Amino acid sequence: MSCRVSLSVIRLALPRSPNPIAKLVFPTLRASRLLVRFKSVSSESTLFSMPERRPFVRLPTDVYPVNYGLRLKPDLIDFTFEGKLEAAVEVTQGTNQIVMNCADIDIITASFVPEGGEEINATGFNYQNEDEKVTLCFPSTLQKGSGLLKIDFVGELNDKMKGFYRSKYTIPSGEIRYAAVTQFEATDARRAFPCWDEPAIKATFDITLIVPKDRVALSNMNVVDRKPYPEDHSLVEVKFATTPIMSTYLVAFVIGEYDFVESQSSDGVTVRVYTPVGKAEQGRFALEVATKTLPFYKDYFSVPYPLPKIDLIAIADFAAGAMENWGLVTYRETALLIDPKNSCASSRQWVALVVGHELAHQWFGNLVTMEWWTHLWLNEGFASWIEYLCVDHCFPEYDIWTQFVSADYTRALDLDALDNSHPIEVDVGHPSEVDEIFDAISYSKGASVIRMLHNYIGDEDFRKGMNAYLLKFQHKNASTEDLWECLEQASGKPIAAVMNSWTKQMGFPIIVVDQEQHGSDRVLKISQKKFCASGPRNDENCPNWMVPISICTSEDPSCTKLEVLLDQPETTVNITNVAPDHWLKINPGTVGFYRIQYSSAMLESLLPGIRDLTLLPVDRLGLQNDLFSLLHKQADMQEEKNRIERVLGAIPAPDIIQRVLNFALSKCEPLC
Ligand code: BES
Ligand code: ZN
Repeated sequence: MSCRVSLSVIRLALPRSPNPIAKLVFPTLRASRLLVRFKSVSSESTLFSMPERRPFVRLPTDVYPVNYGLRLKPDLIDFTFEGKLEAAVEVTQGTNQIVMNCADIDIITASFVPEGGEEINATGFNYQNEDEKVTLCFPSTLQKGSGLLKIDFVGELNDKMKGFYRSKYTIPSGEIRYAAVTQFEATDARRAFPCWDEPAIKATFDITLIVPKDRVALSNMNVVDRKPYPEDHSLVEVKFATTPIMSTYLVAFVIGEYDFVESQSSDGVTVRVYTPVGKAEQGRFALEVATKTLPFYKDYFSVPYPLPKIDLIAIADFAAGAMENWGLVTYRETALLIDPKNSCASSRQWVALVVGHELAHQWFGNLVTMEWWTHLWLNEGFASWIEYLCVDHCFPEYDIWTQFVSADYTRALDLDALDNSHPIEVDVGHPSEVDEIFDAISYSKGASVIRMLHNYIGDEDFRKGMNAYLLKFQHKNASTEDLWECLEQASGKPIAAVMNSWTKQMGFPIIVVDQEQHGSDRVLKISQKKFCASGPRNDENCPNWMVPISICTSEDPSCTKLEVLLDQPETTVNITNVAPDHWLKINPGTVGFYRIQYSSAMLESLLPGIRDLTLLPVDRLGLQNDLFSLLHKQADMQEEKNRIERVLGAIPAPDIIQRVLNFALSKCEPLC
């Protein structure tokens, strides 16, 4: 709980460039992964030739699970657990072996019972530790058809914050105790039970936990039975309802001591926020957010939340910021709890965003799941965008989109302008590469390009496309292309072509604009080139983007007057009925993922809009950010520098920021 305030500060007040000290102290995923990505890579070639790319093959498909019957009995004193798996499987092709994922688990016995046949005991368990797999060998062929795979196993409640692990907490008397919790994404379900641990291998789960009777036991679904454990009367057997068909990385269980607050969302879902004992009141804010958020998403996606309950729980030891396990979302304490008597606005905003993010995954990720980890950027980028949409809906007074621009958007631009950036979409083979791709590019650039896409499509068609996508792929898996296709159908626009230019190549363009007045028409010359933090490049094969460009005028600065899709290096655009003394601004709302370099005259003409504040705050913010980056890297003439300084100086900022600004400007000489 000690770093609650600062976490939000990191994310919302945002350092412009990676701040190693902050990240070491508050290693949220977004921040710490960024450090990993940017720590030592010095050139594009080193980045893309991943040093030891391990060969990787996915699990064979000759045997696949339909239902996991899973019983787990954790020992919170010895930090071990016993497990019993009875998986209903389909054999699609006769075989005498079954290959599954398994890591740090000892299998005691395994057998296969063909439907209506005799039990066949496995004669060997061949562990491939490097690949985190086990091959169960059988003395005869398992024939095509249904069967029951039975495995008894034991494991350790580890202290690594992944798989099935122990989390330490102190009860009010000062005594230290342990909870048993899970964190399976991306590939750690295999540390809790042998399984087919790939996102596309979905099955239903029937989970039973055997736990001390004074402990809370939670899993994805509601409890359907609770009875004394016959062999030990200090224990109870808690059985949960069957889950919908789902991926292993979304399975979760928690056994510990917690208080909770409860409410019902307007669409009939029971929502609980579990807190450390004695801190239930600190769960009230998240409860309010969650009960508002569920109906918001139900309405936005036109698809109801499919489970009867959702629990949000604060875990004392938690590696990520939060995890979207279906029906049982886990959070680090600072991302969920708000002390009603002692909290600041940024803490509440952070909690609201994290809750909004994880609940969005209940649809986008959990109901429809990425086919492979290659599409993870979409999962995270989408949730990182829609969390703002949701918070804006629930708390319009936060003006949260301005924070998106000052946080995710500008950070993504800064990082993606570096030579050692990488495309959002990267091929993932071996699961050990999954970690590599959870960085600010997948989160913040991902969110920024989805925001641009949403703006390009328009909310109505975007929702139509999302609804079609969720309905078509619900309880299944999908790829990035599948989403583009649904959005393309809904909008009639070339979504795949536009988006591929943003996701498959790194970086972004700077849009160079000049204007001429022709009678009552304004004629714009617009061109694009790659923006590089290290200065302009005159590469021969300069990449191109398909750039949705919107334009507004001083007549109505909040309204787009014209939209064009720049799909070539340059174009000319005619805007009718623009009075000669009216200014014109590109990218109103700062939604396009690019920087703008105005001609001197256009830049000067914006000064009145800046001074009288008719240019909206996000537009002033975007302009300020662009000018700063140009001042440092692109401008090469003293006169231009003076002009930029004049415009920057006109953008009102609190005194302290103004002083920082002046200091930074004073450091900009000589320009090169
Ligand atoms: N699915 C992720 C958490 C995750 C990512 C766990 C990678 C394990 C490996 C979750 O939805 C997420 O994005 N969490 C963020 C917080 C969120 C508000 C951005 C995190 O943990 O930083
Ligand atoms: Zn996420």
